[in-house]
Amino acid sequence: MNYLEAADPQVADLIQKETQRQALVLRMIPSENYASDAVLAACGSILANKYSEGYPKARYYQGQEFIDGVESLAQERARDLFGAEHANVQPYSGSPANMAVYLGLLGKTGRVMGMDLAAGGHLTHGAKASFSGTYYDVRHYGLQRDSGMIDYDAARQLALEFRPQMIFTGASSFPRIIDFAAFGEIAREVGAYLIADISHISGLCISGDHPHPFPHVDVITFTTHKLLRGPRGGMILCSQELAPKIDKAVFPGLQGGPHDQTTAAIAVALKEAASPEYSQYCHQVVKNAAALAQGLLDRDFTLVTGGTDNHLALIDCGANGLTGKVLAEACEAAGIVANANKIPFDPRPANDPSGFRLGTPALTSRGMKEAEMDLIAGLVAQVAANMNDASALANIKEMVADLCAGFPAPGIHL
Ligand SMILES: Cc1ncc(COP(=O)(O)O)c(C=O)c1O
Repeated sequence: MNYLEAADPQVADLIQKETQRQALVLRMIPSENYASDAVLAACGSILANKYSEGYPKARYYQGQEFIDGVESLAQERARDLFGAEHANVQPYSGSPANMAVYLGLLGKTGRVMGMDLAAGGHLTHGAKASFSGTYYDVRHYGLQRDSGMIDYDAARQLALEFRPQMIFTGASSFPRIIDFAAFGEIAREVGAYLIADISHISGLCISGDHPHPFPHVDVITFTTHKLLRGPRGGMILCSQELAPKIDKAVFPGLQGGPHDQTTAAIAVALKEAASPEYSQYCHQVVKNAAALAQGLLDRDFTLVTGGTDNHLALIDCGANGLTGKVLAEACEAAGIVANANKIPFDPRPANDPSGFRLGTPALTSRGMKEAEMDLIAGLVAQVAANMNDASALANIKEMVADLCAGFPAPGIHL
């Protein structure tokens, strides 16, 4: 930071302010976290200076003796950690990773099934607004209206009628276990590739808090910057058989040179994730989400599916006469930062939906536990009761800052 302050005080000042913000607020967007100092160091290293199109030992530029070592290490650690035959660690992020799977396994067009955005799926699982719903013929499976759980029978029926070539599973805002084995049966029955996008739950699949997608799926994709606590990036895991198709789709199909500094930081994050402490962390993420959900239920909030099995909870704000957006904005004024979100069968539009999505990965990285989650549920209730009272919200923000001061965040140095 000293170099940056001297060279560019404006950028340094903005980073300093964002550092303060990340220290002093409760960061509860379920897809965010705190990367360690070691991950940040690798990510900000001189590896950013290098170009290395291609793969280890098959590059299009010279000078790769150490870069090959970095990428090979990241691949090896990913294979070991997830029990995969092959790892591609080059996707620039989660969406490009998913795009590479479409391109590699289907080519330019094809029939795909994915979970609906409103049901908790991701844009890249076939939403019309994304490349996936624009170029591919997509049908969505969804949830049972009464329970909010995935409707596997309806998904199977749809698959039998539609005969997809590829089925995407995984979610951005689904608070329950995904039955990869059930999807595996459906995919085999119709001869479709099965993909698990575990961006949100990658860590839980490592720690055993969520069933592992292998051996039920053909391909796993995920972002490296959510629960995994790595840099912003993406990864694809698959069999040796599918590896050439996937690798060719990533490079040269979609990307040029890999971001070697990111690859190094991914390698560091994978080493951290292989430790017993990381599994403990994931167990605590789940326990904290359960405590948060219970705390919210105790205070008369309504949760989609009535609770959670993973790292997030989704409030149906309509039951409290609110929308997700107004609650998200009032919570932000009180130092609780999460996001408005669609809920299943949401009658409201995406820019002002009914849901408010809260997650525990970042708070758990600060060392918070069940007692703090109950306290935070109480603070959210106080916000909901004082939506238009700026001074009440400011008071809550002070309480939040006091709470945060007791739980220093990894990688944050004030
Ligand atoms: C399930 C899932 N897949 C893919 C992505 C896309 O990741 P990125 O924003 O890095 O492109 C996300 C992002 O939130 C996600 O939740």
